[in-house]
Amino acid sequence: MSLFRIEGLVKRFGGLLATDHVDLTVEQGEVHALIGPNGAGKTTLVNLISGLLPPDAGRLLIDERDITALPAHQRVGAGLSRCFQVTRVFARETVHDNLMLAVQAHAGSSMRFLAARSGERALVEQAEALAERVGLSAERDRIAGTLPHGAQRALDVALALAAKPRLLLLDEPMAGMGPDESARMVALIASLRSEMAILLIEHDMDAVFRLANRLTVLVQGRVLMTGTADEVRGHPDVQAVYLGTEAEGHS
Ligand SMILES: Nc1ncnc2c1ncn2[C@@H]1O[C@H](COP(=O)(O)OP(=O)(O)OP(=O)(O)O)[C@@H](O)[C@H]1O
Ligand SMILES: [Mg+2]
Repeated sequence: MSLFRIEGLVKRFGGLLATDHVDLTVEQGEVHALIGPNGAGKTTLVNLISGLLPPDAGRLLIDERDITALPAHQRVGAGLSRCFQVTRVFARETVHDNLMLAVQAHAGSSMRFLAARSGERALVEQAEALAERVGLSAERDRIAGTLPHGAQRALDVALALAAKPRLLLLDEPMAGMGPDESARMVALIASLRSEMAILLIEHDMDAVFRLANRLTVLVQGRVLMTGTADEVRGHPDVQAVYLGTEAEGHS
């Protein structure tokens, strides 16, 4: 049984078929990369998965539970959490306060039974553990907006982790990063795979081939193929369609 399954998903923008009957599964413990040229429909697919956009047809299932009709916040409760192509940290708050807001937002019923002080203590501990998890402990009291780009993206990942996701959606986490920042993000993503499945959209093919167990190639809204890195690399259609257009530029 797959952790996550998409069946026959369709999204139209006027006359444009941005998501064209997409089928896809993500297995437990898998880093599944979603690649494809600019405009292939990758972000649209993530928006459909996270509930930001309603599909025109098709189904989304977590553990065989149909979540197609659930609003975005209830999908988070069902185990989905995402990072955005554009970072959404509160730039004027400290790293710690950003994390506190995130852990408070996801503090479940367990917290309700704790006395106020031990509840607060538990939240602080969770926020500190998340900072540690993404390598930001030393920046605890720094204003988030003053962090380097790579550290802001790491904070964004930590905010998504506050929801304790079973499936983490990452939309171009390496975008705009230098080689050192990219390497740190690759290591962070690799360290998460034992705890959750990850759907990774990324143009940095070195990072994709290093991290992904399987890849799905999306072209003009359609799944061209799903396979291992070797299968994708060796597929003539992928070389023609994807790698051929990749030279035109990244977003
Ligand atoms: N809200 C919208 N309204 C109309 N068209 C849209 C909308 N969002 C996306 N599109 C179109 O749908 C297609 C897929 O866009 P999408 O952003 O999903 O591609 P992408 O694969 O994420 O591209 P990139 O690699 O540049 O991020 C594009 O042709 C885009 O112009
Ligand atoms: Mg995109």
